[in-house]
Amino acid sequence: MYSTFGLLLAGAAFAAAADGAIKADGSNFTLTGDGVSYLFHVDPTSRDLVSDHYGGPATDFTPPAAVSNNGWSDGLTNTRREFPDVGRSDYRLPAIHIKHADGDTVSAFIYQSHEITAGKPALPGLPATYGGDDDVSTLSVQMYDNYSDVEAVLLYSIFPKYNAVARSFRINNNGTSNISIERAASFSIDLPNLDLNMIELQGDWAHEMYGETGFRSTEGYSSHLHNPFMALISPTTTESSGEAWGFNLVYSGSFAATTERFSNGFIRVLLGLNDLHASIPVPPGGTFQAPEVVSVYSSEGLGGMSRSYHDLYRNHLSRSNHTFETRPVLLNSWEGLGFEINQTSLDSLAKQTADLGIQLFVNDDGWFGQAPYARINDTAGLGDWTPNPDHFPNGLGPVNPNSTLYTEHPDWVLYQGKHPRTLTRNQLVLNVGLPEVQDYIIDAVSNVIKSANIRYIKWYVPVEINKSWAFVYILSFLPIAINGRSASAHAPTVVAFWRWWDNNRGIHEMPSPAADYAYMLGLYRVIDNLTTTYPEILFEGCASGGGRFDAGLLHYWPQHWTSDNTDASNRLTIQMGTTIMYPPSAMACHVSAVPNGVSQRNISIDYRAHVALMCGSFGFELRPDDLSAEERAAIPGILANWELINPIVISGSFYRLRLPDDSNWPAVQLVSKDETTAVVFAFQQQAMIKPAPPPLRMAGLNATAMYRSTAFNGTYSGATLMNAGLNLAFEVADYQSMLIYLYRQ
Ligand SMILES: *[C@@H]1O[C@H](CO)[C@@H](O)[C@H](O)[C@H]1NC(C)=O
Ligand SMILES: *[C@@H]1O[C@H](CO)[C@@H](O)[C@H](O)[C@H]1NC(C)=O
Ligand SMILES: *[C@@H]1O[C@H](CO)[C@@H](O)[C@H](O)[C@H]1NC(C)=O
Ligand SMILES: *[C@@H]1O[C@H](CO)[C@@H](O)[C@H](O)[C@H]1NC(C)=O
Ligand SMILES: *[C@@H]1O[C@H](CO)[C@@H](O)[C@H](O)[C@H]1NC(C)=O
Ligand SMILES: *[C@@H]1O[C@H](CO)[C@@H](O)[C@H](O)[C@H]1NC(C)=O
Ligand SMILES: *[C@@H]1O[C@H](CO)[C@@H](O)[C@H](O)[C@H]1NC(C)=O
Ligand SMILES: *[C@@H]1O[C@H](CO)[C@@H](O)[C@H](O)[C@H]1NC(C)=O
Ligand SMILES: *[C@@H]1O[C@H](CO)[C@@H](O)[C@H](O)[C@H]1NC(C)=O
Ligand SMILES: *[C@@H]1O[C@H](CO)[C@@H](O)[C@H](O)[C@H]1NC(C)=O
Ligand SMILES: *[C@@H]1O[C@H](CO)[C@@H](O)[C@H](O)[C@H]1NC(C)=O
Ligand SMILES: *[C@@H]1O[C@H](CO)[C@@H](O)[C@H](O)[C@H]1NC(C)=O
Repeated sequence: MYSTFGLLLAGAAFAAAADGAIKADGSNFTLTGDGVSYLFHVDPTSRDLVSDHYGGPATDFTPPAAVSNNGWSDGLTNTRREFPDVGRSDYRLPAIHIKHADGDTVSAFIYQSHEITAGKPALPGLPATYGGDDDVSTLSVQMYDNYSDVEAVLLYSIFPKYNAVARSFRINNNGTSNISIERAASFSIDLPNLDLNMIELQGDWAHEMYGETGFRSTEGYSSHLHNPFMALISPTTTESSGEAWGFNLVYSGSFAATTERFSNGFIRVLLGLNDLHASIPVPPGGTFQAPEVVSVYSSEGLGGMSRSYHDLYRNHLSRSNHTFETRPVLLNSWEGLGFEINQTSLDSLAKQTADLGIQLFVNDDGWFGQAPYARINDTAGLGDWTPNPDHFPNGLGPVNPNSTLYTEHPDWVLYQGKHPRTLTRNQLVLNVGLPEVQDYIIDAVSNVIKSANIRYIKWYVPVEINKSWAFVYILSFLPIAINGRSASAHAPTVVAFWRWWDNNRGIHEMPSPAADYAYMLGLYRVIDNLTTTYPEILFEGCASGGGRFDAGLLHYWPQHWTSDNTDASNRLTIQMGTTIMYPPSAMACHVSAVPNGVSQRNISIDYRAHVALMCGSFGFELRPDDLSAEERAAIPGILANWELINPIVISGSFYRLRLPDDSNWPAVQLVSKDETTAVVFAFQQQAMIKPAPPPLRMAGLNATAMYRSTAFNGTYSGATLMNAGLNLAFEVADYQSMLIYLYRQ
């Protein structure tokens, strides 16, 4: 049928890359990691790419499942495909859906050629994993639709050490008319008829898949309703054993995650752009680049999968120089002062901060804008970041209609001509897809950075409370010196702060569905520019929660605010969910005042601190003067623990020992990379007279080595601690916690 391509196919034997991680044997492709194999081949008749295996090590291509072609479903729908397109006897959802100029949506991509290279190419305009020739190898497969002159280039990169496969593709329009990308799933694979469950980020719901199931963000952002991540696990998989496949989109816009079990039992997995926010035009000669998905396979349970992601993301996704640095302990003004910010109140709070021995003072929202648009509440001022015209240029970021920026540039927000500009939380969304808006932000932020001695910048991004939306606006900062304070080696002398609330509402009326993708490319350009220009600045993404705590932004920023919900008990669930694939070193967590503003719970300062100490960026968010004498007395001990724990959080291995959803006694453990030190965070949620807490079995220790601890006299072997565990004696009271250090002898 497609005769010209026969010759190419027959001649397509290529040598393996230097490290042998990728092999092409004829038209059979094998990607091999330390504990994973990914196999697919070119079907000699259809020239389609056929999935053979993705899972534990396998070296041979075995015959495919024999599926009857009787009845309705025949042809391609009974094959396991790598890059399903539309309109050729595959009734399942496609990975690629293109609308051609004449309205036709049939595609016929067939294999053309391939290439294997060491290393991994960058994706133009998009965040992605990266690595040197020894870390990663890449297979690129060219597919061509001869009817429409459209080329698809599929990229498969394997990081052998992490059992990770990153996939993306680009579409080249080689024809003479416009095309439109209606759907693009960066990772697409058909698994065989396995019994699998699906897990979303929180891991708090899972269900069997019959037919189509999935979730998506249509908010314009990755959102906190659904993080762009899913895992498939066997029904018997646990934290520490069994098979798990993770899929994480490295992208911050709307997305769709879908699994579809067809009648033949095959399970199609798709993760990529949300088709409602696609319809991306590609002119003749133009290219569309899909964001990448990073998939990790683990035969050591969800915990094994998580630790692969943590190490991969710290070493090969996050590109900030601060990724492996300990972070300063800080105090943030928001929960203490809210909008009641002025020089006097800030000076006072900064002094209290310094008196406690805290290194970094972070000023928050509420002190910019000028009458009649002063930001003394959330109805005005966004866009007018001019608290001090001597030091700060005009504002940045998203906009209140009550702002000078909006009055001057009403076309700089996202809107759809004939529809009203709907406000959410009194806000409109700045259209960062427009180059003039990008340049404005880059320019304004650069001026601000140049004008002040800024070391720490917080870019606020999404929200978790009440599952509400995230924001889109930029707030400004106020440099405040804490008189001459530089308490320890990692204490910056400055103290300034600035927040970009980048995601405080969802996007509604857009000029076109493709505006979301354009917005994300624009946002990445701005952030890439500023992080490249100012690598010494510690940037923190923020979204008051998981709304945009995603792999896309982790590429640029080493840490994110984890949730606006600072109730320490709720935080355990949120933080354990976040660590399903994001490293704990990337989480920012603060001790806030009690009773908690969200839950009204009154939890001890030790428990609150223990929960927050498992995060890379630890701090406080309260008024020190309001602390009780008992709380105040606890602060030096908390800071001493922080000194010990922070380096282990930043680079160590993380184990979820017991989950808050499953146990009244949740616990996590961190082990230093050299395996000499471990710290266990153990909690009791509710007071219980009976039963006794189960022994706490540790993980990640050397079975034959001996450990001493603050929690017991003498030494115990790693085997004892992991298999017998420790019996911890909590008081019969709610919300108890313990920190246990283990030192290898
Ligand atoms: C591709 O299309 C051209 C003309 O449209 C035709 O000559 C050629 O044979 C086709 N090749 C294949 C492989 O179908
Ligand atoms: C390539 O894969 C096909 C189908 O999976 C298999 O029949 C064939 O033996 C494989 N060839 C080699 C050289 O491994
Ligand atoms: C299609 O366009 C791309 C990008 O311009 C080019 O690299 C490729 O060679 C073209 N393919 C064909 C078959 O013309
Ligand atoms: C492609 O679409 C653009 C925008 O609608 C239009 O200006 C251009 O003429 C179209 N090009 C072709 C080749 O049809
Ligand atoms: C500053 O704010 C505080 C409240 O935080 C308020 O009590 C005080 O009056 C304000 N001072 C000035 C000069 O506005
Ligand atoms: C809210 O802020 C606006 C603009 O600064 C101001 O005019 C208005 O009085 C404020 N409202 C309240 C209730 O303080
Ligand atoms: C603009 O500010 C005025 C005065 O504070 C307020 O009444 C109005 O609601 C604000 N508009 C919006 C859209 O927040
Ligand atoms: C950042 O953007 C500005 C303005 O467009 C440009 O002049 C500068 O070269 C860019 N810098 C980087 C590192 O991309
Ligand atoms: C960041 O790290 C790179 C690579 O190690 C180094 O060349 C560069 O100087 C560092 N930049 C800063 C600002 O520390
Ligand atoms: C949560 O939503 C309820 C109902 O809309 C509201 O009363 C409450 O204030 C919200 N809580 C927070 C923390 O926003
Ligand atoms: C485990 O501990 C034993 C005894 O201390 C030691 O001989 C061995 O090298 C350790 N193994 C590893 C992998 O560190
Ligand atoms: C260690 O031994 C001493 C002396 O017997 C005892 O008082 C103490 O409670 C023991 N500590 C622990 C943690 O078991």
